[in-house]
Amino acid sequence: MESGEPFSEQFQDFYFSTDGGLQETEYVFLKQNGFPQRFDALKEEPKDYVLRIGETGFGTGLNFLVTAYHWLQINNLNCILEYTAVEKYPLTKLQMEQVYTTFKKTWPQLSACCSELLNQYPLNFFPSDNSASINQFELFNGKIRLNLIIDDATKGLKHLLSTQELSLNHSQHNSLQKMDAWYLDGFAPAKNPDMWQIELFKTLAKLSKPGTTISTFTSAGVVRRGLIEAGFTMSKISGPGKKREILLGVKE
Ligand SMILES: C[S@@+](CC[C@H](N)C(=O)[O-])C[C@H]1O[C@@H](n2cnc3c(N)ncnc32)[C@H](O)[C@@H]1O
Repeated sequence: MESGEPFSEQFQDFYFSTDGGLQETEYVFLKQNGFPQRFDALKEEPKDYVLRIGETGFGTGLNFLVTAYHWLQINNLNCILEYTAVEKYPLTKLQMEQVYTTFKKTWPQLSACCSELLNQYPLNFFPSDNSASINQFELFNGKIRLNLIIDDATKGLKHLLSTQELSLNHSQHNSLQKMDAWYLDGFAPAKNPDMWQIELFKTLAKLSKPGTTISTFTSAGVVRRGLIEAGFTMSKISGPGKKREILLGVKE
């Protein structure tokens, strides 16, 4: 972490490509989900329209920062971006401050988003016991909402689903608040097999609607087959830089 190139000792893997991390995020996660063009198309939507993006593995928040940056570039957009990420091992505020010092130098266009998030990033997250702990942040005067769920991806998303079903039963919502797009991050399946399980893919499907898009940097067969089994149509395309292939898909 000291070198500014975040590395996980636990998973023996980098948080993102140290060679063009921002471009990789734009290619793997934004472009494959149709962003920012899909943001632009929301100009016609009413003021209270919410676009929902879900992510597994928030890490340093680079995917979030890049998405928030592009969202804020669209003029005359009155809708809200709600970004819900699950993270089992959150970085401390001190680690985030170190990483963001590097981000700001490398990618100055992300500076405002880094500062806005750091201002609200807590010193400590409360440990979650049986229920997932959801931390909510209102950024840029409410234009962007970040829900950070500190939990295992499958457990945290299942909890989110059950909370929504519960409030639906109590008529607090008219329908489940399903995601419009998913970013699946979370270290390579070979290094983190526990996360990439069919139960996760089925939970993602339950929190999706027809047309929900999904992308991930991995092209592992276990992920492609699992997402197909859960109800997504998946394709492989060439990856960024040295990465041969990545996966993208859409919920049937
Ligand atoms: C490749 S990094 C993510 C990079 C991140 N998107 C970023 O921009 O920094 C993978 C992240 O997944 C998290 N993770 C690993 N296993 C997980 C699990 N079972 N549930 C939730 N998060 C997990 C790790 O702690 C790490 O932060």
